[in-house]
Amino acid sequence: MPDGAYDLVVIGSGIAGLYAALQAHEHGASVLIVTKGAIDEASTRHAQGGIAAALGPGDSPEAHLRDTITAGAGLVDEEAARILCFEAAPRVADLVRYGVRFDATDGEVALGREAAHSAARILHAGGDTTGLEIELSLSALARREGVTILEQTLADRIVVADGRAVAVGVYDAPANARRDYEATNVVLATGGAGRMYRTTTNPEVSTGDGVALAYACGAEVMDMEFTQFHPTALVLPNLPVFLISEAVRGEGALLYNTRGERFMPRYDERAELAPRDVVARSAHREMLETGSDHVLLDITDRDAAWLAARFPQIYRTCLEAGIDMATDRVPVSPAAHYTMGGVRTNTWGETTVRGLFAVGEVACTGVHGANRLASNSLLETVVFAHRTVERLYGGGAPEPAPEPTADAIALPAPRNGVPPPTPRELTELMWEQVGIVRERGALAAAVDRLTRWATVLPPPGDRAGYELRSLLTCARLAADAALRREESRGAHYRADFPQPREEWRRRLVYRAAEGGGVG
Ligand code: FAD
Ligand code: SIN
Repeated sequence: MPDGAYDLVVIGSGIAGLYAALQAHEHGASVLIVTKGAIDEASTRHAQGGIAAALGPGDSPEAHLRDTITAGAGLVDEEAARILCFEAAPRVADLVRYGVRFDATDGEVALGREAAHSAARILHAGGDTTGLEIELSLSALARREGVTILEQTLADRIVVADGRAVAVGVYDAPANARRDYEATNVVLATGGAGRMYRTTTNPEVSTGDGVALAYACGAEVMDMEFTQFHPTALVLPNLPVFLISEAVRGEGALLYNTRGERFMPRYDERAELAPRDVVARSAHREMLETGSDHVLLDITDRDAAWLAARFPQIYRTCLEAGIDMATDRVPVSPAAHYTMGGVRTNTWGETTVRGLFAVGEVACTGVHGANRLASNSLLETVVFAHRTVERLYGGGAPEPAPEPTADAIALPAPRNGVPPPTPRELTELMWEQVGIVRERGALAAAVDRLTRWATVLPPPGDRAGYELRSLLTCARLAADAALRREESRGAHYRADFPQPREEWRRRLVYRAAEGGGVG
């Protein structure tokens, strides 16, 4: 068993955690990574389309910034987004230095196209296995470099003393034991909360633990009403939900309803390459109108050899499900995909609790606003993980840590009266009542039900119990914020308030009432 005290404890081993750990290790810090599954169980390994960076001829960070701001629907933090786009190139170079092999054509990096990007600027690896290449390269390097890594070890508490994070409490699943690791600083890199929803592209580990840990220890959480729904997931009985990358539409695939009508031009002049929220809502509506549980994605103008080379994983997975993309239209439907909200940070990864940092999908830097631009999330992980490590070991405090928000909201105290939820009941409620299309009645009922469930949830005794508690905290934050935000903006769509409203061009920030926790 390793010693109990480290300069840095990193929670999570996706791209954000591994990259932060490697960078801190280069600075000579003693680093512990705790991760609740196997090292490579993370959203990262599933990423397909790639990582955005304005590297192509005629492209520029300025153009990338404009696209990011447009996608974010009025809520993007422009300073953070500028950093994202302008610091992309050196961070991609870091990944290459760490062993990631991006695809190239004739010696030049190959750049793909995705929705709402004004240029081809998506670097990919292995065609459509970008995330796997990143995850395997970084985890292998972390092991070679001797970073201490504890798998099957779930962080379940951030210990705060005198306003500062000083230790991480963990549940060691194989030993069925609890222990604490002292830390000079703690980095949350726990990924998103897509598993709040019945239908999601996210892996089992994406249960929002970092948001729950941060909220429980007094850090601020914001933008939780903004969950991105991806329009094209393959959802078949008895098979895991599988993403059909937006890059497939980037290569010309078209969407049809089950009556055989191409529908996207009716909704948006950018058609299949409209922003993700627009395509997801349009598909949702077509499904309702045709009484079907899917729409159809058609790329049959490409032959099998081309598809197998450009999208090897997608082509193979579809074939295994009995669908040959070269000849068949693929049944697809929307699925929860990305958590725009998260733990509030400044542009150096700092939360409102001293010594506690957040990077990657768990963090809310403000770069995505109300709607993330495709392939900006892998980029965000490395840009802000780098800055976090610079802040810690690269020379001082470049800007003050974020101040507590004056009008932060605390979730209401739990109420009595219902049996505790099963994971299925929770995710079903979120899908039906806090999903792609929302309205006051269903949201208010969801908030009430979630608040009651919080009272009766038994104290967690195993990983499944901890995860259900985290999901419930995230669900309460998402539902409460969605009920308060009386407008439609980006990924948050209210049927009773279908337009954006200027007075809502602001963020909802949550902080637990003194004494903490959410029950
Ligand atoms: P993750 O990679 O999810 O890693 C989180 C880690 O934290 C995991 O190791 C997990 O086990 C661990 N963890 C969680 N809770 C605890 C706990 N309590 N204790 C200990 N460990 C814990 N983005 C793009 O930019 N481009 C893409 O092409 C793209 N494609 C995607 C495709 C799919 C199918 C999915 C699901 C996402 C995609 N995304 C894409 C989003 C992107 O993959 C994620 O946002 C990104 O990988 C998040 O990285 P992360 O390191 O923050 O989190
Ligand atoms: C995809 O490949 O469609 C996912 C890209 C992303 O989520 O950024």
